[in-house]
Amino acid sequence: MNPVYEKLQNCLKSIENKVNFKPQMAIILGSGLGDYAEEIEIKATLDYKDIDGFPVSTVAGHNGRFIFGYVNKVPVVIMQGRVHYYEGYPMSDVVLPTRLMGMMGAKVLFLTNAAGGANPDFGPGDFMLIRDQIASFVPCPLIGKNIDELGPRFPDMSEIYDMDLRNIIQDTANELEIPLQEGVYIQLTGPNYESPAEIRMCRAIGADAVGMSTACEAIAANHMGMRICGISCISNLAAGLSETPLSHVEVQETADRVAPLFKKLITGSIIR
Ligand code: 6GU
Repeated sequence: MNPVYEKLQNCLKSIENKVNFKPQMAIILGSGLGDYAEEIEIKATLDYKDIDGFPVSTVAGHNGRFIFGYVNKVPVVIMQGRVHYYEGYPMSDVVLPTRLMGMMGAKVLFLTNAAGGANPDFGPGDFMLIRDQIASFVPCPLIGKNIDELGPRFPDMSEIYDMDLRNIIQDTANELEIPLQEGVYIQLTGPNYESPAEIRMCRAIGADAVGMSTACEAIAANHMGMRICGISCISNLAAGLSETPLSHVEVQETADRVAPLFKKLITGSIIR
C-alpha cells in the first residue's frame, strides 16, 4: 500500500478506537481562534499526541487536538492547532490531519487563518472571504504516487472554494452586519514574513492576502472531493504597505482583538 495512505489508515484506526463520532463538517482554526472550540457543545476531544503517527508540533504547548462536537446541531470536528510546512514536516504530513477529517466523514472543510494584507484597500482586523488561491510557491501535497482511494491523479481546481458556501458566508456577514472583503489567498512557505519586493510580486500576480497555511490543505481536501470555504483574518498589512516592521505579536494581538466577531461569523455560517 502507498505509505502515505497506510499512515492515514493507521491514524484513522487509532482515532476510531478512541472516539465514536461522525463529523459532517471539519473546521481548522487559525491564529487567535484557538479558543473557538470552548464555545461549542463538545462531545469528545483527542490530543494529536495520542494518535499513532500523527505529526505533533514540537513547540511546547502547541501540540494541539481534535475537538468533536456540535455547532448549530451540525456535527463538526475542529482542529485546534495545525502543523505548518515551515516547521519542517513533509507536505504529506502537513495535510494529513485534513485528509483524516475527510476520511472521518466530513464533507465540508471550513478553513480559517491569520494573514497579511497585500491589497492596499485592506486594513488590520478586516475579514476576507477566500475566493481563490495561489499555492504555486509551496510544494504540492499531492506530489508522489497518487492515492487512488482518495482522488484522481490530476484533480480539477477550477472552483476550490465552493460558490454556494461563499454565498452562505456572505449572506451571514450581511445579516450580522460584519464587513467582509473578498479576495485571493497566497500561501508562501514562511517562516519569515515577505520583503516589500515579494509583496509587490504577490500583488502583481493577483494575491490579496498572504499567509503560510491553508492553500495546501485546500488542495488536499479538494482532491478528495470535499467542499471548501475559507476566511482570512487580515491581522496586519504586509511589508511595504505597513509603516512598522511586522511581528508575530502584532499578528496575535489583532487576531485576538477581532476573534469575537470572527467566531460569530463562523458560527453564523454553519447551517445544515
Ligand atoms: Cl505579512 N505574511 C505571511 N506569509 N503570513 C502572515 C503575514 C504576512 N501576516 C500574518 N501572517
